[in-house]
Amino acid sequence: MSNPLHSPAAERNRQPILEVLRTLLPATGRALEVASGTGQHVAWFAAALPGWTWQPSDAQAETLDSITAWCAQAGVHNVRPPVLLDVLAPQWPGNGAAFATPLDLIYCANMLHIAPWACCAALMQGAARHLAPGGHLVTYGPYLEDGVPTAPGNQAFDASLRERNPAWGIRRLEDVAQVAAAAGLHLVARHALPANNLLLVWARQPPTP
Ligand SMILES: C[S@@+](CC[C@H](N)C(=O)[O-])C[C@H]1O[C@@H](n2cnc3c(N)ncnc32)[C@H](O)[C@@H]1O
Repeated sequence: MSNPLHSPAAERNRQPILEVLRTLLPATGRALEVASGTGQHVAWFAAALPGWTWQPSDAQAETLDSITAWCAQAGVHNVRPPVLLDVLAPQWPGNGAAFATPLDLIYCANMLHIAPWACCAALMQGAARHLAPGGHLVTYGPYLEDGVPTAPGNQAFDASLRERNPAWGIRRLEDVAQVAAAAGLHLVARHALPANNLLLVWARQPPTP
């Protein structure tokens, strides 16, 4: 197998993300990772959280070997073979077609800013369809926030993303929350992580009394 893809950022942020996941997650559960990319995150989390079964996925077929290679290198046995999943697909390959649902966790890092805005609604709607009651969607990455000065690094990153693809760009948290609400999810926790990134925890809206 060829060398796995490597993301220096994933190597830096996997441990701070894991530390938050440890505070959020029970000892056992079933997780879907959306936009796994290199596979470094899922390999790290699966090793550290052995009571969880992980289903990695990505929209790009060329990531799948890399995900498999990172998991093999980590020696983990609680990761299912990665599957192709484009959040924009009207149906995700869940409900037994590729992985079992409902899920206790859907985890998606660093996709919203590097994909068209429609992917945000698609992620929220997919999470609302596939999360178990009491399950969580976790998103991680840079966000713009009303009333919070944007770090110069994120301003430059946003400009470079938009230059590469006008459909990309760092998303405004308030816009993401609005799209989440339309799908029936709401923000339950916001964790500030290194390098001006946020880890956000989303859950189903409580039923209206
Ligand atoms: C910057 S990488 C992040 C990878 C990894 N989650 C991380 O944080 O290191 C963005 C990933 O989003 C994936 N992606 C982009 N559009 C997508 C879509 N519509 N559905 C699923 N994944 C998508 C890309 O293929 C890519 O692997």
